[in-house]
Amino acid sequence: MNAGPDSDRSTRILSRRLVLAGLASGGTIVAAGPVGAACALTPRQPEGPFYPVAIGEADGDLTRVSGAGGRADGTVIEVTGRVLGAGCRPLPGCVIELWQANRHGRYDHPGDRQHTRPLDPNFQGYARLVADKDGAYRFVTIVPGAYPASRYWMRPPHIHFRLRAAGHRPLTTQMYFAGNPLNDSDRLLAQVPPDRRAALEVAFDRRTADNIPAGSFDMTLAAG
Ligand SMILES: [Fe+2]
Repeated sequence: MNAGPDSDRSTRILSRRLVLAGLASGGTIVAAGPVGAACALTPRQPEGPFYPVAIGEADGDLTRVSGAGGRADGTVIEVTGRVLGAGCRPLPGCVIELWQANRHGRYDHPGDRQHTRPLDPNFQGYARLVADKDGAYRFVTIVPGAYPASRYWMRPPHIHFRLRAAGHRPLTTQMYFAGNPLNDSDRLLAQVPPDRRAALEVAFDRRTADNIPAGSFDMTLAAG
């Protein structure tokens, strides 16, 4: 190792450059590496044709509908995450809309004509959440079913998201389930560069206190 006076001088010069860089960027020095990687912009995905035409109940428990009396069919899961923006800062107040097919791969939407797949009166299908002071959000739902987008294309289970936050570009994307074999042949997920797909694929490898499978889906919006 070169640990003499030259090394000390190099360290001082490097430190001064970092300070200058920090001042130039508004006084904050953001380290490269894991922090930078965590704040990479979330890949965009098409909105798809099934954003609800009529919005009713929109709370964070999609497994129950007021007055319906039962619980939605399917495997209950918990999704939590944080919404970040410019400089990796949390985005409190970010509006998070999400919608998905039910257990049978059917949307409660007049454009979904898969009438052999039943609707589920106990499934809410949509939620509208607001990120808290830490940019965090949470909802409980069921694993959506796969469904055919065409004769030759089966869409893997996924949840649609649409986010809006002050000072940032709106984000529309889709969340997938890590390890689902249909992910590999999905034409929309294929639009994401291979090294960025993990940002949209969530592993449900934890359990809540209620023994529900849980996964984390963080999203980062572009400033603008
Ligand atoms: Fe979809």
